[in-house]
Amino acid sequence: MNVKLVNAPLATIDAQLTLEFITPQQLVSHPHKELLLQAGFKAEDEQLCTLHEHRMMVCGINEFSDELFRSNTANAIKTAMNYTYSSLKLAQYGQIHFRALIEGIILGSYTFNTYKSEPKISSLVDVIFSNEERDGTDLDSAVLEKILSKALIVSKATNFVRTLVNQTPYDMTPQIMAVTAQELAKKNNLECTILDVNGLQDEQMEAMIAVGRASINPPRLIHLSYKPKNPKKVITLVGKGLTYDSGGLSLKGATSMVTMKMDKAGGCAVMGIIKAVSELKLNIEVHAFVGAVENMIGGNAYKPDDVLRAKNGKTIEVRNTDAEGRLVLADVLSYAQEKVKSDFIFDYATLTGACMVALGPYTTGVMGHNVTLKQEWIEASEESGEYSGVLPFNRHLKKLLKSDLADVSNVSSKPYGGAITAALFLDNFIDENMKEKWVHFDIAGSAYTESAYDVHTYGGTGAGVRMSVEWMIKHCQ
Ligand code: BES
Ligand code: ZN
Ligand code: ZN
Repeated sequence: MNVKLVNAPLATIDAQLTLEFITPQQLVSHPHKELLLQAGFKAEDEQLCTLHEHRMMVCGINEFSDELFRSNTANAIKTAMNYTYSSLKLAQYGQIHFRALIEGIILGSYTFNTYKSEPKISSLVDVIFSNEERDGTDLDSAVLEKILSKALIVSKATNFVRTLVNQTPYDMTPQIMAVTAQELAKKNNLECTILDVNGLQDEQMEAMIAVGRASINPPRLIHLSYKPKNPKKVITLVGKGLTYDSGGLSLKGATSMVTMKMDKAGGCAVMGIIKAVSELKLNIEVHAFVGAVENMIGGNAYKPDDVLRAKNGKTIEVRNTDAEGRLVLADVLSYAQEKVKSDFIFDYATLTGACMVALGPYTTGVMGHNVTLKQEWIEASEESGEYSGVLPFNRHLKKLLKSDLADVSNVSSKPYGGAITAALFLDNFIDENMKEKWVHFDIAGSAYTESAYDVHTYGGTGAGVRMSVEWMIKHCQ
């Protein structure tokens, strides 16, 4: 979708369709009130009425909030894409809501047709914003242009992540994920280092190697970096990149295995974040590490009862091969901290089903030791339109990971609080000096959806991108 801003009154802009938002209160004095009421339109949220004879689409909205503008715009653009119009125009609804409208357009118009033999092509190609408010006042178009270019970068990076996540496990193997990272590096002028199994062996990353051992698609460790000249901060991002999670020998059930191509969403998210940061030219050095691995079964598979030595020297008793993400992250977190001395380290992972049980399927779990830092993230995510909630640590939960055989067990001895015990497992691989600078994001629920909601269609959601850019702009610039 081409989205542009035109410095002209809405009425003078040439477009085939106009999209207008009205509240139930505004309906009373609307020029097409009779027609709209006749169609049963009450201007309630998500209600849409298209008056084709007036080339007008009227969208109900209960109140002017970012949240409702974003999802209602997404809803409206999806409907408009089913018509044969090629262009749509809309006015401003206050400078503070402009970003939400743009995000609604770009995120809402996202389609993924790679696997359709006859993809449905929409005729809608242009969306034009006027700098004029509905009441006729003009907004500063220089300010609006800045909001537009930033929102386009962030929303397109989110769509980039969605498309990576939506690739089948056959099309997005660890090797292909590494090639994708190299292509991104070339395009965006990033540095890129890839380790293959030999490289992982040299680095003594036994845990990550073990998880990938039964797969015919060998693992890759990806390190992308964006290095502006005099950065204000250095940030390390680590992503779980399980291109497929069958569960390994602790095999998943048939139903739970479906959708497990999305277990790479954390790795895809960190690639999307570094893409956005580099295009926004933020003055922050960012390192994105991805542990790209496939968790499969076979004669060579790692087993419940194995003991693995992670890169930082800690030994791990494997009691369940389906708790593989934490094993990969144990090594990648250790590697990242050894290679880069940073101000913060954040990891993104579709780590536990338990996170979804705790917070529901739309919300990212935020975990870590630093209360202030976690709060900053909750606020940034809310501001950005992503849902997140803190899941608190305590010393009793930490003890549930004790192993009689090794330093730590890869699963908890009790079946409750699984998202937190998984994060507390990762805590074993965070260096002492980074404890207060680390936040773990469990995106198991938020990274993927099988039913459309908010600005999301079926598939990957791009969780992590919008909230991370928001936090970085607010706290590192
Ligand atoms: N990738 C899964 C977690 C997951 C589940 C993500 C559902 C998205 C949707 C992870 O590797 C896993 O299997 N975790 C286990 C941990 C358990 C064995 C301790 C889980 O959540 O059941
Ligand atoms: Zn698993
Ligand atoms: Zn997994």
